[in-house]
Amino acid sequence: MLRRSALALLAVALSGPAFAQAYPTKPITLIVPFAAGGPTDLMARIVGERMSKELGQQFIIDNVTGAAGSIAMGKLAHAAPDGYTIGIGHLGTNVVNGIIYKNLNYDLLNDLVPIARLPSNPLLVVTSNQVPAKDLKELVAYLKANADKVSGGTAGLGSASHIGALAFNAVTGTNYQLVPYRGTGPAVQDLIANQIQIMIDQSSNSLPHVRAGKIRAYAVTSKERSTAAPDIPTAAEAGFPGIEVVIWHGLWAPKGTPPEIIARLNAAAVAALQDPEIRRKLEDLGQDIPTPEQMQPAAFGAFQRAEFAKWKPIIEKANVKVE
Ligand code: MLT
Repeated sequence: MLRRSALALLAVALSGPAFAQAYPTKPITLIVPFAAGGPTDLMARIVGERMSKELGQQFIIDNVTGAAGSIAMGKLAHAAPDGYTIGIGHLGTNVVNGIIYKNLNYDLLNDLVPIARLPSNPLLVVTSNQVPAKDLKELVAYLKANADKVSGGTAGLGSASHIGALAFNAVTGTNYQLVPYRGTGPAVQDLIANQIQIMIDQSSNSLPHVRAGKIRAYAVTSKERSTAAPDIPTAAEAGFPGIEVVIWHGLWAPKGTPPEIIARLNAAAVAALQDPEIRRKLEDLGQDIPTPEQMQPAAFGAFQRAEFAKWKPIIEKANVKVE
C-alpha cells in the first residue's frame, strides 16, 4: 500500500506540464484484456500501430487474459498513472464486468479514465458448418432439440460473446451449454473444428471465416444490416426481433494520468481513425467508426456511464452468477 502511494506521489511529481510536453519519451504498453488473434487484440494492433506512428514511440501489446477482461482492467487501474500504461476494452470489460463481478479490486467507472472511444461492431450468430440449419428459425429449433449436445463458445462471463449469448437465449428461448475461452480468437478456431457448435461473436472476428466458408452466419445483431456483410439478415428480419447488441471499444488510462497526456493520446487515436487506410481495414470487418466529437474523453466518459445505466437492469435480470 505504502509502495503504491509512493509510486503515485512520484507519478504526480513527474507529471507537471514540462513532463507532459516531453511525453512520450519511451514505449507505451497497451494492455489487451483477451487472447492474441481475437477482435480486441486486432483492434489494438490496427489502431495502436497508427497511434504509435503519431506519437513517435513503439506500442507494446500486453495480452492479460482471464475473467472476461477484469484481471487486465485491475492491472491497468493499479499501473502508474504516467501515460506509459494504457488499456483497450469494450462494452463487456468496461461496463458489464462492473455489474457482474462483485469483488473487483478496482472501481470500474472511477479508477480508470477514458482516453478515446473506438469503433463498434455488431455480433454475428455463427455456427460450425456441421450444424444442419439453413436459417435462424431452423437453427433455434435445432438448438432446442439438441440442447444437451450443443455447446457455444464465449470469452467468459461478461465478455461481448457472453452478452450476445444472453441476449440470444433470452429472445429465442434456447439454453445451450457455454464454454469459456480466454478470447474469441481461440474460440472461433474451435468453432471451425466443430469442437463447439455456436458463437454469438463480434463481426470483426467471425466475418473473415464466414467469407472463407469455414463457418456459417445466420444473423447480425444490429438494427440495420452491416454494410460489410449485406447478405446476412438482421435477427429481426430472420424472425427474432429484440436481439440487438453492438459492441463498442475504447481506450482508458489509470486515474491520475495528467490531462495533457490524455489529450495527446486522444489526438493520436483521433488521427488514427481519420486515416483512410485504417478506416478501410476496420469498415471491412464491420466496424462503425465514431466521429472525432464522440471520441473526446468527456463525451466518451458520459457515453460509458449511460451504457452502464442502460445495461445494469438487463444484466441484473439475467441473474448471471460468478462463482
Ligand atoms: C476478444 O477479443 O477475444 C473478444 O473481445 C472477446 C469477447 O468479449 O467476446
